[in-house]
This record gives sequence, structure tokens and C-alpha cells, in this order.
Amino acid sequence: MTIARVSSPEAFRAALSDAREQRRKVAFVPTMGALHEGHLALVREGRRLVGAAGIVAASVFVNPTQFGPNEDLARYPRDLDGDAAKLEGAGCELLFAPSESTMYPDGERTRVRVERLTAGLCGPHRPGHFEGVATIVSKLFSLVGASYAIFGKKDYQQLAVIRRLATDMLFPVEVVGHPIVREASGLAMSSRNAYLSADERHRALSLSRGLRLAYAAYASGERKATVLTGLVRAEVEPVTDSIDYVDVTDADSLVPFEGDASVGSRALVAIACRIGKTRLLDNVVLGEDPATSLSGSP
Ligand code: PAJ
Repeated sequence: MTIARVSSPEAFRAALSDAREQRRKVAFVPTMGALHEGHLALVREGRRLVGAAGIVAASVFVNPTQFGPNEDLARYPRDLDGDAAKLEGAGCELLFAPSESTMYPDGERTRVRVERLTAGLCGPHRPGHFEGVATIVSKLFSLVGASYAIFGKKDYQQLAVIRRLATDMLFPVEVVGHPIVREASGLAMSSRNAYLSADERHRALSLSRGLRLAYAAYASGERKATVLTGLVRAEVEPVTDSIDYVDVTDADSLVPFEGDASVGSRALVAIACRIGKTRLLDNVVLGEDPATSLSGSP
């Protein structure tokens, strides 16, 4: 089946409500494009959730309000035709690719803010970022209606923010988290990996390597927050250009464990750092994720 493309919010809303009227379940995968296997895994998860009779929709929109003034909005990779072909190959039937002016009409004044969950991790390093994410995702959810929406755990804090958003705003959306998809090397897939030179790509392997060390230490009984983050830092510090944070937090509240505090039974270890000019993220949930979650996907 060829993928249908729509660019107006009204057409997107109508296509999905028609599908629901025909008793088809809806799965939705929001993206900013430059699609890779990580995104396509979310599409396949959507298909699994709604079955052959359901409809799987995706959006491609590089959302300007979630980029800071010194971030990579202008050079963010864009390839809408390539993305449409990849989505079609993964079984997505409907692509919503709106323009900036339709998602942010002239004179718009509305922002959505999720508190507490955005206080730590990426929040302080990207002022306004999660407000931009919560705002665009609210707009998308209001168009999509009752559905499953699938998000990757690579952006773990974003997933937590969106779960809270869906609950608080009474969106009839079931938010589903999908495990991180990695290259065979262990590197978490990301559209921003396209910026990395061969040398930088090699250095970027230190993120998953560091997380593996923390994972192994936790498995052998280590519970001290600073020891666990220290293991990640020791691996990453020598080869990165700057580190925004290496934190261990409660996996639900995202409140960090400090110093010698003993981390809980489900603890997120998360890292954000720069290799060259590229900002990379990675994480693992100790006490929850299987050991295989840090090695390359088959
Ligand atoms: P984007 O970075 O394009 O990511 C779209 C979705 O793909 C997110 O849910 C992200 O977590 C997921 N994803 C990316 N890389 C992944 C990987 N290696 N494994 C698993 N999932 C992965 O996240 C955004 O866009 C935007 O903030 C958006 C939610 C679309 C709002 O603009």
C-alpha cells in the first residue's frame, strides 16, 4: 500500500477519525524526520499494537520551539521523500508533514509546560526545550485523538514528560515506551549521528561503554550514586568535548540520587555530552532493562 501524505491539520484529523469510525485502532509515531531504524522500530511497534486492521500514522515536523537559539534547527537533517519511503517500508499508511505556519499560526500565544519532571537532566541545559516538546505534542495529540502513541526510551525524560502531559491534559492517548535501538557497535541511533565524523563516531561509543560498566557494577551489588556515575564519567570524560550531566535518578520522578545515597530498585543512569559539536544522549534503567539493552540490536 502506498503511504498517504497530508499537510493540513484538518485532513490529518479527518483521516484518523474516519479510520476510527471504521473501528480501526490508531497508532501514532511523532518524529522530526531524518528517520533511522530507531524511528522505524516505533512504527513496527505501532503496527503490533493495532494489528493488520488498524492504521499506523507518523508525523515529520522539525519543531522550531524545542530548539534553543544556539542549537541546530537550521542544519537539522531533512529528507521528506526519503522519510516517506522508509515509513511506507515499515508499514505506516499515513504521513502528516505540516508547515511551520500551520502548526504555529500567526499570532499564536500558547505554550504547554510540564513541571518538576523537567527540573533536572536536560531541562536546565536546554531552557524552553520541554515546553516546545509539550506544546507540539499537545497539538499533535489533539489532532490524532484516541490512539496509542509510541515514543523511544532514548529520550527517556521526554517520554516521562509526555506520559505526564497525556494524563494531566486528559488526552485519550495511551503513551507507549519503546526500548533504545542501537547500532551493532552499541551506539544509540540518533538523527544527529549523521553529524559525526568517523573519529567522533568512534569516541561516541564511550557512552554505551560507560553505561555498561555502571550496569555491571549495579548487577554486582554496587548502589552508591557517585560510584555508579563515576564509572560512566571515567569512560566518557577523556573522549568528549563537554559533559552536560551524568546523573542517577529515580526512574519515575527523575529526582537525582546525590553523593553516597543508595540508588533505588529502578534507577535511571543518564548522560548528555558533546562530541565535537554534536550533543548525544544515552541511558539505561538499572534494575529494569535487560543487559542486552546496551549491546547492538540484532
Ligand atoms: P525525534 O528525535 O525525531 O524522535 C522521534 C521518536 O523516535 C522519539 O520518541 C525518540 O525517542 C525516538 N527515537 C529516536 N532514536 C531512537 C532510538 N535509537 N531508539 C528508540 N527510539 C528512538 O523526539 C522527537 O523527535 C521530538 O522531540 C518529537 C517528540 C517528535 C516532538 O517534536
